[in-house]
Amino acid sequence: MRISQRCLSGRTSYIKRCNATLVATRAIHRKRDLAFARSSCSHTLHQDAIFCKSGSTTWIRGAKTKTSVKITPLHQGALPQGTPVAVEREDGPAYPAVIQGARNNMKKFAHCVVLTRVGGFYELYFEQAEEYGPLLNLKVGKKSTNAGIVPMSGFPFFQLDRFLKILVQDLNKHVAIVEEFEKDAEAKAKSGGLQYDRRVSRIITPGTLIDENFMDPFENNYLLSIQCDPEILEQRNVDAENSKTPEVGLAWLDLSSGDFFTQRTNLDALGTVLARIAPREILLDQALQDLQDKRLTALCRDDRHIITYITSVLSDLASDNWLSMIEAQGERPAVSNFSALEIAAGNTILHYVNTQLQGTKPRLQAPLQRREDEFMALDKNTIRALEIRETLRDGTFQGSLLHAVRRTVTKSGSRLLGQRLCLSQAVSPSMSLDEINSRLDLVAEFLENPDLHHNLLVLLRDTFDSLRLVQKFSFGRGDADDLLGLSRTIQVTDKISDTLWTHQASGEQISTAKPRWLKFESLLHRLSLDGPMDLSLRILNTIDEEKLMEQHRIEDSEAAEMVELAEDVLNQEGEQHLKGVPKSVRAQAHNGNGIGKSVDAESNNWIMQRNASAMLSRLHRKLDALKEEKDSLESRLRIELGAASLTLRWTPKLGHICHVKGGVKERASVAALRSVRILQSSKSTQSFHVPEWTQLGNRTEEAKHRIQAEESRIFATLRAEVVRNLIEIRRNAAVLDELDVACSSATLAREQRLVRPILNAGMNVNIVGGRHHTVEAGLMKQGRNFTSNDLSMTDAERIHLITGPNMGGKSTFLRQNALICILAQTGSYVPAEYAEIGLVDKIFSRVGSADNLYADQSTFMVEMLETAEILRSATPRSFVVMDEVGRGTTPEDGVAVGFAALHHLYHVNKSRVLFATHFHTLTDMVQGVEGIACYCTDVAESREGDGSWTFVHRLRRGVNRESHALKVAGLAGLPKEAVEVAAKVLRTLQNMPPLPPPNLPDPPLMALRTRSHRLTSDSSLLSAGESA
Ligand SMILES: Nc1ncnc2c1ncn2[C@@H]1O[C@H](COP(=O)(O)OP(=O)(O)O)[C@@H](O)[C@H]1O
Ligand SMILES: [Mg+2]
Repeated sequence: MRISQRCLSGRTSYIKRCNATLVATRAIHRKRDLAFARSSCSHTLHQDAIFCKSGSTTWIRGAKTKTSVKITPLHQGALPQGTPVAVEREDGPAYPAVIQGARNNMKKFAHCVVLTRVGGFYELYFEQAEEYGPLLNLKVGKKSTNAGIVPMSGFPFFQLDRFLKILVQDLNKHVAIVEEFEKDAEAKAKSGGLQYDRRVSRIITPGTLIDENFMDPFENNYLLSIQCDPEILEQRNVDAENSKTPEVGLAWLDLSSGDFFTQRTNLDALGTVLARIAPREILLDQALQDLQDKRLTALCRDDRHIITYITSVLSDLASDNWLSMIEAQGERPAVSNFSALEIAAGNTILHYVNTQLQGTKPRLQAPLQRREDEFMALDKNTIRALEIRETLRDGTFQGSLLHAVRRTVTKSGSRLLGQRLCLSQAVSPSMSLDEINSRLDLVAEFLENPDLHHNLLVLLRDTFDSLRLVQKFSFGRGDADDLLGLSRTIQVTDKISDTLWTHQASGEQISTAKPRWLKFESLLHRLSLDGPMDLSLRILNTIDEEKLMEQHRIEDSEAAEMVELAEDVLNQEGEQHLKGVPKSVRAQAHNGNGIGKSVDAESNNWIMQRNASAMLSRLHRKLDALKEEKDSLESRLRIELGAASLTLRWTPKLGHICHVKGGVKERASVAALRSVRILQSSKSTQSFHVPEWTQLGNRTEEAKHRIQAEESRIFATLRAEVVRNLIEIRRNAAVLDELDVACSSATLAREQRLVRPILNAGMNVNIVGGRHHTVEAGLMKQGRNFTSNDLSMTDAERIHLITGPNMGGKSTFLRQNALICILAQTGSYVPAEYAEIGLVDKIFSRVGSADNLYADQSTFMVEMLETAEILRSATPRSFVVMDEVGRGTTPEDGVAVGFAALHHLYHVNKSRVLFATHFHTLTDMVQGVEGIACYCTDVAESREGDGSWTFVHRLRRGVNRESHALKVAGLAGLPKEAVEVAAKVLRTLQNMPPLPPPNLPDPPLMALRTRSHRLTSDSSLLSAGESA
């Protein structure tokens, strides 16, 4: 197995630390391991550990992209409670309990990498330590046990995210996290003194991330379930000619935001849908893996999607079973409209999520059913060709459309913009004039009111990603910082609401006639703040920010100490080596957990205001009183013992002690006390117990424990309150996202002279002074200007045939117009002086040629596949961009195929088409045909006669018969002699036929003479097709 070296390089320093830490782990845990009684860990195994009977994996190009999980014996529907899975026991000497537990988990979750929490560390054992330790750059140690040597490897708990990133994100692994749960006294006694229960708390897969730090904040993390009847697929395979394309049901969700969608589609459209959803993980039925017809699996494997095979939940579960995982209180998802396959996809995905979360219920938004006709359709080649989310050449974000237009100031706003541009079926370019215009209204509002725009930007920048925050809370996660982030976002939302209402009020006075106000108001009415504001105030009145910051400082220094400790003991083994380590650090190491210091320590990890609850105030008052008691006891003892340096202390080893520093006199007086037993004595200090302090100390400890318990209780109620406000907070977040995207478009419009497009239900396109965002930006960096171009498509000129020199700007022109249509329908301003567009239902873009040799497809094959897709699907409302179709084959074949494509688009699809070509024959063939117009770009030769020339990027009506390829070849640095030979050949060819063969010695070049001029330049070919 190979692992990308890239993902591991550049980590040397922290890897060194990890290695160091590992050695420390072993030293620290040696003692703990001894304490674990030898007992079977069957009690730690969950009844819902189900995806575990057996597993197989497939590797594609080094990284595993497919996991196969057999769950045949799986109960369908709700998981039965309390059915323990039998654990295989082995005869002979047993492993220590922790290791045995890990071994059991590795068997049960056979498709997962098992990370077992032991104290402050996560550990890998056995073959997984050997396999993944090196991949994670962790040292692999060997531990001797009664049952034999056990390889082990591990890292400190606070580095979990880093290692999950490598395992889940880079290696596409499923990871089972085994956590420690402290047992109550009874359970402890029963298990023979074992302090912790360890069980799998969650399985993390690429598609089921919740709040991991390595998640891309700017993109959704979708898990997608695809359902298709395997029998129909198989039948179709037999009877391919006659069968309709099989129906497919989809359900997809993002656990991190709670988005949940379903859609029905068909196998032919699936590739496009996949490209738009861009799922991180796909669930497919096991049965599909073994099918003869591999089309579905091949589609899913395209773009290297990660596939997990599972047994689908096909039982006829209705929406009722979904309710427990869906936010809608009372509101039932309208599942009656869903197809059986959509429901099956929904069942399967929810079931899978449930298993991965080991019973924790996610709170998803009610499923939204997407319909294809609601949105402009962009197929996957178009998304790629138009470089919407990444560049064609090197797949980078920089240079993409999204990068060029993104001026959002919040993460979730960026996600929404991405979705609108195509990345998600949910809100991609719209087909609704109403929707588009109301989005444009909002942008217009901000452009007309720069102050409002500015104020909103300032406020939006102050918000946090509340969608992902509330989702954390709904999983029972989320800490005090998250609460504060949420609270601040709610406060800012309130201010935004005020700002907008005030603006609206003042606006109304200026002009009541604006039709757009209505929509503005409806946006404002969607903000609901009553519940969230109460929540926000409660959070602010509860959490003590200063204490929290103090707490972070302590945690940071503890984590640093932990790593230092590990480094100190690097290359040393065994407990005794901890002796050289500072006492405080040693104590901490034994504490296991880097944080969560004993409450007896001087600093307390409390984070709440004293008056957060009546109980908490009472407890704090009590603690104050105890502190006073301690002070007076201390003074009294000082007087009684005549030892001014006496202090009352606590240490982990000795408990509550009196500590005296000083000379002979003080020590003598202490020694005189009959009742004390000297615990420790040195030249200058003495420590001893005083019963009063021991008792008072214990009471203090008890009080602190109670404070901590009360804080935990309050925290739990706050969490619950967040979840109660989930729907409002999500709705508010959606409004903020829309505002952010509108502000972004306004910012961009101001920066780059964009105009508001006019959308209508007609079929014409009229763009004046259109530009290409990214090409323009690139030229500007080099101090060059972009030449804008117009496009006018009417019934008289529905198809534009564009010729011109290489590098003349044909492709740029084609793409810029497609992009303008997309941007317009997302509700964004566009780079032009004027743009009027009849709604476009689908955009197709076939540009450039790219081999897909991996998928066994040559350049020409790719070209034809894409062309076929266009000719099959384009409608009169579609906008088709065809760039040099027929380029990947001989000129004759190229012309023939190009002509056929034009012919079909003209007669059958009747779409709006921009068709760029170097085959002038094509222009001859369509001359005079109504509805087809020819445009071209040019090269301007210098009048000086010095051979210099420039491109004219401005389009003009007409045909340019010269491709000026040799100029470009020269520009590209082709050797001068080669260019001269080429020029000679060209001259010869241009004079054919009927010319004698060129006087060239090189035989292969002769082949060029076969260039044919026999193709008719008669436009009757096109009209002939009409009757055909
Ligand atoms: N309208 C324009 N104004 C200025 N430069 C342009 C324009 N269109 C294209 N270019 C420049 O020409 C280069 C090649 O354009 P391209 O569209 O690929 O040409 P073609 O498809 O005709 O070979 C672009 O990368 C850009 O630098
Ligand atoms: Mg081109």
